[in-house]
Amino acid sequence: MLSSLARSLTSSSVRTSVRGLHRSTVKCSDTLQVHRDSKENNIDTPFTFTPENMKRADAILSIYPDGHKKAAVIPLLDLAQRQVGTWLPITAMHEVARLLHMPRMRVYEVATFYTMFMRNPVGKYHIQVCTTTPCWLRGSDDVMAAIHTKLGLTPGHTTPDGMFTLSEVECLGACVNAPMMQINDDYYEDLSTDDTNEILDTLAAGKKPKAGPRSGRFAAEPAGGLTSLTEPPPGPGFKIQEGL
Ligand code: FES
Repeated sequence: MLSSLARSLTSSSVRTSVRGLHRSTVKCSDTLQVHRDSKENNIDTPFTFTPENMKRADAILSIYPDGHKKAAVIPLLDLAQRQVGTWLPITAMHEVARLLHMPRMRVYEVATFYTMFMRNPVGKYHIQVCTTTPCWLRGSDDVMAAIHTKLGLTPGHTTPDGMFTLSEVECLGACVNAPMMQINDDYYEDLSTDDTNEILDTLAAGKKPKAGPRSGRFAAEPAGGLTSLTEPPPGPGFKIQEGL
């Protein structure tokens, strides 16, 4: 009985159904999330907080109660990054770890998790283009293409003059003004190809483009005008029984 079953299973008459599986291409980060010693970024890279920034660090630390000073790790890393300019050397992470009495590994974990910390040198202007679904549906591909055409940049690269670095990032929390990009500390929103070109030209000319939406919106109000709250609100007593 068993041998006849085995025979039937191995016979050419046994058919197996094949189901094709499809998946989209895997997108990897354009940033290497491990440290590699380089000329600019190694254990001997000098870093100490300036006296002014040390005062700022003390003010930040005073916000946190005893026993919870480690919670200041993000503001202190941000302070260190701003002192260096646009990126965070490994020795700055070590200094923050020393100030907070934290293991260095704990600081590395924070600095590698948040994309706001650049662990290798970037250009004077760090362009971060959001390509998450709402921005993508509203034309982030056009923004990326405009940057590529004007600067020859692909994500993860810097222009030879050290002026611009391009990163592709996940949602930056301005979806209602999609598509958008962040350049250093400023958001540029409701972008078209022309807007993107104009912003890059203005920066290249050494000027600061106006931040915010480019569509004429003040902020994130409905693009087609108000659809609610269009009349003055009724006053007190509205719809209250006369007897009351
Ligand atoms: S999806 Fe682009 S800012 Fe949220």
